[in-house]
Amino acid sequence: MCARNFTPKFSRNFTRSCRVPARSICQPYLIRMSRYLVQKSGPLDGEVHISGAKNSALKLMAACLLAEGTHTLRNVPDIADVTLMSGVLEAIGLSITRKQEDHTTTLVIERGPDVQPEAPYELVEKMRASTAVLGPLLATVGEARVAMPGGDDFGARPIDMHLAGLEALGASFELSHGDIFGTTDGLVGAEIALDYPSVGATENLLMAAVLASGSTTIINAAREPEIADLASFLNRMGATVVGAGTSRIDIVGVPELRAVEHTVVPDRLEVGTFLAALGIAGGELTLHNTRPDHLEMLVDRLGAMGLRISPEGDSLWAMSRSRPRATDVATLPYPGLATDFLPLLVAVLCFADGTSYATENVFAGRFGYVGEFARMGAGIRVEDHHLVIDGVESLSGAPVRAPDIRAGAALVVAGLGAEGITEVRDGYHIDRGYERLEEKLRAIGAPVERVDD
Ligand code: EPU
Repeated sequence: MCARNFTPKFSRNFTRSCRVPARSICQPYLIRMSRYLVQKSGPLDGEVHISGAKNSALKLMAACLLAEGTHTLRNVPDIADVTLMSGVLEAIGLSITRKQEDHTTTLVIERGPDVQPEAPYELVEKMRASTAVLGPLLATVGEARVAMPGGDDFGARPIDMHLAGLEALGASFELSHGDIFGTTDGLVGAEIALDYPSVGATENLLMAAVLASGSTTIINAAREPEIADLASFLNRMGATVVGAGTSRIDIVGVPELRAVEHTVVPDRLEVGTFLAALGIAGGELTLHNTRPDHLEMLVDRLGAMGLRISPEGDSLWAMSRSRPRATDVATLPYPGLATDFLPLLVAVLCFADGTSYATENVFAGRFGYVGEFARMGAGIRVEDHHLVIDGVESLSGAPVRAPDIRAGAALVVAGLGAEGITEVRDGYHIDRGYERLEEKLRAIGAPVERVDD
């Protein structure tokens, strides 16, 4: 569909009465409660197949809105957030079929001519990444109603840069009854300088600009590997995107895109999770389906803690034989150390032979897990946006709560070095981002069980 000649599907008086009833959409996507039970582990040994990246798959799914036809996404992780994003797209009118192929999941996503440009609150509140439909809906239908995401465990998490960038491309927004209602008479390319290299804002603008008329330049763009993956999907669809993966992205709008096949980039955060488990339990692992070139800062910091890590093609071999060394770590936008790695590295540093400092520079409020580690006997305290961690030889298993996806996984791996049983409650956070975490850990010798509540 051409962004320059679109016909809006709804009038500007789009009201709540024409919304899809939330209950009927959301019933199949209810979050299932779960817990993870973890015991102290001996050294880990074996091989792990790393899944596709959650943070790429969710945006690629949203990008399927941009072209009518049948899209195929391979190496999609089988996780709750993919089910939630499927719910968002199905509410909009797409049809999604899931197939298992060679131990990985493939999604076949059909985008027909008719869509209802609305992401309901009941789904958006469960997954902020639903806001990724804003750019594609404005580009193809000229309208989007998306529930305004609230704050979460990381703090306020505004989407002001997404909205300002889309306004620069010619969209207008109204906030009403908790929904953002965006409209445009046709997006027009522009130069947009982001105040901060936001991942979500860069992705939304990229997906909007590919169908805008004229050229768009995003300056101070996020450089995460998931952005480059999205751009390569868009280019395969017929878009003209140059520079994704660097801080300047140039896009020349095209009249229409076509449905294609794509394989999701491997999940670097899952790699970090297994390496953190290795740092705590010791042993030797080979991780398959990785992109070592996306893991340089992580490998550097884990190396400083004493792990030996070597790339072997698209695999990563790693060994740990001694107590971790105390090391300082600080998060930054890519290519810096990802904020998502921090709780996992903190889990390792809780066992280190000295005092470490961990600094969070990306999300103001991302220390919700500190009290949970303290319950397990960790010597950890918050000082402004830093953590001071006095390493101990062993933690003490306790009931704890997962405050978010990565901190939940960090508590599981911390349990591998704790005496007794660690029970990580609110396991649904972990289920949102990890495919069969407990099975993959058990296969390499870690005593971890997941219980449905
Ligand atoms: N920010 C604003 N205004 C905006 C957008 C962002 O102030 O309009 C701020 C945020 O509040 C934050 C910083 O900018 O302080 C970075 O936010 P960013 O937009 O880069 O993050 P995001 O797109 O919301 C994605 C990942 C997160 C990951 C961050 C940073 C997805 C679905 N989420 O979030 O992943 O931590 O980038 O790399 O892609 C996870 O996987 O568990 C996870 C939280």
